[in-house]
Amino acid sequence: MTKRVLVTGASGLFGRAIYKEFLRDDSWETLGLAFSRAKDKLKKVDITDESQVKEVINSFKPSVIIHSAAERKPDAVENDPEGTKNLNLSATEYICQAAKSIGAWVLYISTDYVFDGTFPPYEEDAKPNPLNKYGQSKLDGEKIALQASSDNSVLRVPILYGDIEYLSESAVTVLFEKIMAGSELIASDYEKRYPTHCGDIADAIRQLADKRLQNPEKVCGVFHWSSKEEMTKYDMSVAMASAFSLSTENIKPDRSPSKGAPRPYNTHLSCKRMEALVSGRRTPFSEGIKAVLQPYFKK
Ligand SMILES: NC(=O)c1ccc[n+]([C@@H]2O[C@H](COP(=O)([O-])OP(=O)(O)OC[C@H]3O[C@@H](n4cnc5c(N)ncnc54)[C@H](OP(=O)(O)O)[C@@H]3O)[C@@H](O)[C@H]2O)c1
Repeated sequence: MTKRVLVTGASGLFGRAIYKEFLRDDSWETLGLAFSRAKDKLKKVDITDESQVKEVINSFKPSVIIHSAAERKPDAVENDPEGTKNLNLSATEYICQAAKSIGAWVLYISTDYVFDGTFPPYEEDAKPNPLNKYGQSKLDGEKIALQASSDNSVLRVPILYGDIEYLSESAVTVLFEKIMAGSELIASDYEKRYPTHCGDIADAIRQLADKRLQNPEKVCGVFHWSSKEEMTKYDMSVAMASAFSLSTENIKPDRSPSKGAPRPYNTHLSCKRMEALVSGRRTPFSEGIKAVLQPYFKK
């Protein structure tokens, strides 16, 4: 079978890392989709338009589709239910139906926010119970993907950081703006998170896709991938300051639940199913974040 992979959201924080990972491997023919940031070889496709989705899938004929595009900011989702429905649900339906018609495997990228965070660690078959509309929309997207074909897969990941186009692109690196300026930063020291490098997951996804083509029956259903370092936003902030020998004096811990859309307390993901299939790397946060922030560091 020809190894052809289509990556949606290939201009986004995570999709870029996935797209780059497959491009690096000559054995894969790779097509990345984007929308407002379509440039270079990325193809502009509005995935909320069914005819555009059918057209690109029927002409490229991927064997694998990594569906990463989504609205992923919880507060944006709360404020735009219609836009979120179109992007997180309708587009997923269009992609999965078109994939089914050509026998392509869909890996739907999801989130730890499908869990309520009260009873970690979460196994792959743990019962989801999202606390906010973002988590609910991603869970609904999972159901669409798995109902379209029992062969499809879901990969849940936690808060991400990686190569950024601007500091506020990731919920982790945005904190560095105030740290660098030395101004007061009140950072949540309540919710427990597992910040994970996009490149680590992209590498694991490429291995999983290879396994899928070799052994389809072994690679279906729900997977998790996450780092093992438990950190609050406060811990991440202190680690970022320390990586550049900056003062931590103005970083203040906030020990109450975060404001805005309700957030789960601790969504630690157990990754056993994926660990049995791929040799995943886990970049230490202090190392990964230093490399990501270095180009933005101004003394
Ligand atoms: N970031 C995190 O911390 C995190 C954590 C857990 C799970 N996830 C999941 O990971 C996935 C990727 O997230 P991300 O952080 O990479 O998101 P992102 O940086 O916000 O990127 C979103 C992507 O969706 C594309 N897109 C938006 N509207 C589109 C449309 N109408 N047609 C086609 N493409 C469209 C964007 O393209 P343009 O920019 O070109 O318009 C962009 O490539 C999502 O499924 C998210 O739920 C993310």
